[in-house]
Amino acid sequence: MVRPEDPIQIAGLNVRNRLVMPPMVRNLASDDGLVTDELVEHYEARSRGGVGLIIVEAAAIAWEHRIMKRNIGIHSDVTIEGLSRLAEGIKKHGARAFIQINHSGPKSHMDTRFVGPSDIPVMKNKIPEPLSIEEIEEIVQKFVDAARRAKEAGFDGVEVHGAHFYLLSAFLSPYTNRRSDEYGGSTERRAKFSTDVIRGIRRALGKYPVIFRMNGVENVERGITMEEGIELARLHADAGADALHVSCVVDETYNPGVPARFTEETMPEFLKGFEYDSCIPCASKIKPHVGVPVIGVGMVRDAALAREVLGRNLCDMLGLGRALLADPEFVNKLVDDRDGEIVPWKD
Ligand SMILES: Cc1cc2nc3c(=O)[nH]c(=O)nc-3n(C[C@H](O)[C@H](O)[C@H](O)COP(=O)(O)O)c2cc1C
Repeated sequence: MVRPEDPIQIAGLNVRNRLVMPPMVRNLASDDGLVTDELVEHYEARSRGGVGLIIVEAAAIAWEHRIMKRNIGIHSDVTIEGLSRLAEGIKKHGARAFIQINHSGPKSHMDTRFVGPSDIPVMKNKIPEPLSIEEIEEIVQKFVDAARRAKEAGFDGVEVHGAHFYLLSAFLSPYTNRRSDEYGGSTERRAKFSTDVIRGIRRALGKYPVIFRMNGVENVERGITMEEGIELARLHADAGADALHVSCVVDETYNPGVPARFTEETMPEFLKGFEYDSCIPCASKIKPHVGVPVIGVGMVRDAALAREVLGRNLCDMLGLGRALLADPEFVNKLVDDRDGEIVPWKD
């Protein structure tokens, strides 16, 4: 039976245990996207606290297309020095350091140019401009450049953000992608942009580890179904992703402009099958179909549940998001069986 403290490999890279800090934006970078001491300390604390793999929050591959004002930037070589301090700070306490690379596309808190596959909004009154093929190809190169900077800064790998209706995710989803060119229509075509990004990173950086984060299912009208989520996972693993990080869109909280598809009554059984409102059931559906590690995530707040999820083999690695914001020492306490000392997250 798999235990949280068991090591695992991603693309031949040893990770000391199965527990992951998923990307969570902090809004703590400088005004121009440089890493601050506060950010270094934030992530160092979770590495000292025993986390196996830290995926640093969404970093902007194009500064005008960030999610919020003080995102981390990875859009120019000027960012590399600060990113190096961050990677070093994480690695010196034993965690592996990855960083998520992102283009906000149709979803941002900034007053910026909203872009996407088609003119379908995911935020109220923010109708995105459809990207031209030339622009798409330029953005693929920006992802590749960002991955190169992550490597130069000493990160062990990158996570390409293909979830939550940011740019790559909006191309993947039949809800937002209504194109009729080579980037729209069939599952393969909607996945062309994000698989081109993975292949581009491979071509430029060789065996450098890449995780792909995706929505396993989208509870929105016309959204990705579980069957298609499995197909998308396969396509991205075939394109070279070394691990898949399965998120999902279960309600309208983060996408108020998007109509929900399921009601309480019509929700598929497998999504109800887990006693918590979580994306872990999606990860467990995908896991048997791919030959790379699958990271599950969502609503795990206590050590007993973390042990249960991994013990039941629902995913290979487990993300602890808000639990790690509440208690940087969560993992050390779990591994030492000091469950009672864990500081709980309060909603
Ligand atoms: C404050 C906050 C910021 C987040 N930022 C990101 C992000 O930058 N990239 C991303 O893919 N997900 C982001 N997420 C989603 C988390 O990675 C994770 O999937 C989610 O919190 C569910 O896990 P949890 O229930 O263990 O917290 C964020 C979540 C929170 C709470």
